[in-house]
Amino acid sequence: MTELVHSRADLARARSALTRTVGVVMTMGALHAGHETLIRAARDRADHVIVTVFVNPLQFGPNEDFDRYPRTLESDLEVCRQAGADLVFAPSVTDMYPGGQPAVRVNPGPLGEDLEGLSRPGFFHGVLTVVMKLLQLTRPDLTFFGEKDYQQLTLVRRMCRDLDVPVEVVGVPTVREPDGLALSSRNRYLSVPERAAALSLSRALRAGAAAAEAGGDAGAVLTAAHAVFGAEAAGARLDYLVLTDPDLAPGPVDGPARMLVAAWVGDTRLIDNAPVRLAPTS
Ligand code: PAF
Repeated sequence: MTELVHSRADLARARSALTRTVGVVMTMGALHAGHETLIRAARDRADHVIVTVFVNPLQFGPNEDFDRYPRTLESDLEVCRQAGADLVFAPSVTDMYPGGQPAVRVNPGPLGEDLEGLSRPGFFHGVLTVVMKLLQLTRPDLTFFGEKDYQQLTLVRRMCRDLDVPVEVVGVPTVREPDGLALSSRNRYLSVPERAAALSLSRALRAGAAAAEAGGDAGAVLTAAHAVFGAEAAGARLDYLVLTDPDLAPGPVDGPARMLVAAWVGDTRLIDNAPVRLAPTS
């Protein structure tokens, strides 16, 4: 049985009945197979699973898609039921921010200003603030985040470590369509030709990984990935394509690394990333 609650009071009552380990999966709704995988991962590790569904206005810029972001609570509940969630918390904006937008926010530090943060100023302040609030409201033992939003996962881990939040942050691998496209709630904005152009992101990552497997260094990996974008990405406008250390720390990369890409396809901004293993430079 999956219970749906909207208010903080109902959440507090339902939460107090959960006596064993609690796992939480935070979402903005429009749930797809990627979210289902997160919920199932939580189901495997925790005795009770809470899913939050909240389109957080704090993490949308003035020209972003807050108004058109899909809101599909009925079908989201069905996904939660199928995947075995016990409790769904779907607050309104007023339930979440009763005093209006919070004046005090979590500062993500320098990593919050890079990559996604460069293109979306204030984005990670909004994300980490709502994540912190949802952690306080749901009080989980474990929380599950998709690797698809790799910078978000890294920053949530960092926040919990730096601010001593007593929760285990679990990263869950990205779920992809058979042709490689990473699942995203924003894929539903794509027209048929845009969907084809969107494949450039995963293809670039694959080309980079292949160059690394062939013994290429960071420069060769980046060149291979950029070449896909240059040659095939008609309809996709590259925002960034970078190779970093797995914790997104600045500095030269060597051994295990992460490649991250962001691009515009029409009016839709997509991101993707993948692990890359570089031959260590001795
Ligand atoms: O990844 C998302 O859907 C959102 O950024 C999150 C973590 C639910 C916070 O609003």
